[in-house]
Amino acid sequence: MSPLEVRISECAGFCWGVERALELAAEAADNAPVPVSTLGPLIHNPAVIAELEARGVRVISSPEEATGGTVIIRSHGVPRETKEQLAASGMTVVDATCRFVTAAQVKAERLRKAGYFVIILGEKDHPEVLALRSYAGPDSLVVQSPQDLPESLPASRVGVVVQTTQTQEQLGELARWLAPRCRELLVYNTICNATEQRQSAAVAMAEEVEAVVVVGGRNSANTRRLAELCASRQPRTFHVESAAELDAAWFDGLQVVGVTAGASTPPEQIEAVAERLRGFGA
Ligand code: F3S
Repeated sequence: MSPLEVRISECAGFCWGVERALELAAEAADNAPVPVSTLGPLIHNPAVIAELEARGVRVISSPEEATGGTVIIRSHGVPRETKEQLAASGMTVVDATCRFVTAAQVKAERLRKAGYFVIILGEKDHPEVLALRSYAGPDSLVVQSPQDLPESLPASRVGVVVQTTQTQEQLGELARWLAPRCRELLVYNTICNATEQRQSAAVAMAEEVEAVVVVGGRNSANTRRLAELCASRQPRTFHVESAAELDAAWFDGLQVVGVTAGASTPPEQIEAVAERLRGFGA
């Protein structure tokens, strides 16, 4: 039997914002006033959260649960009121909001102040969108597609900002619908290309291998989406959280396997999966 060839996708694992949030959390665990907590799980990866917990970083779900010390704001950001509440609490605040998310918040606020009717393209209950809305103002509207918009718009000057993980296709569809219906349309394309890069690299890889392993938390939306996209190109696609879940029988008789991972999967988990796969064919 010859060894299984393992190809790791060109673009897999941590994005810039997640990497920075984890660095800030590790720094806080070592040096910041205790207790240290994160407002919501820092990333959607159970192993990483357990590791942080072992270092004394616990997850809380609201600022009221914080009992002094240090609070970390995750890369999705938080609503402006939450930020103000934390600043007034006297606790040390570590702000790990991703710079691409901050840029979208700044633009949403700019549109509101300039008197535009603000439309946010995104998932209405997602924490990033809830935060974005606090900058866009209470009159703003969150939509996933043009179908969510009223037939006649409440204003003729319309501004658009986008949740960082939406697709260019969704934005194009919205802009095409809006353009003929308003007198002035200002679109800020605040999509971050980290998600798109991971998806297109994974799809290209899935077309060239005999099986794909997608590594990452089952609670990670971007990892699940990667698995769906890979499965549409390569039906032999497996989503695992760790190397221990791999079953040699899945790869019987195969020669080339591809590995990819969501933006919240650490490099050690990707390498552990690749290493175990290499051992299968031997
Ligand atoms: Fe930031 Fe983009 Fe990652 S917005 S958190 S770099 S997916």
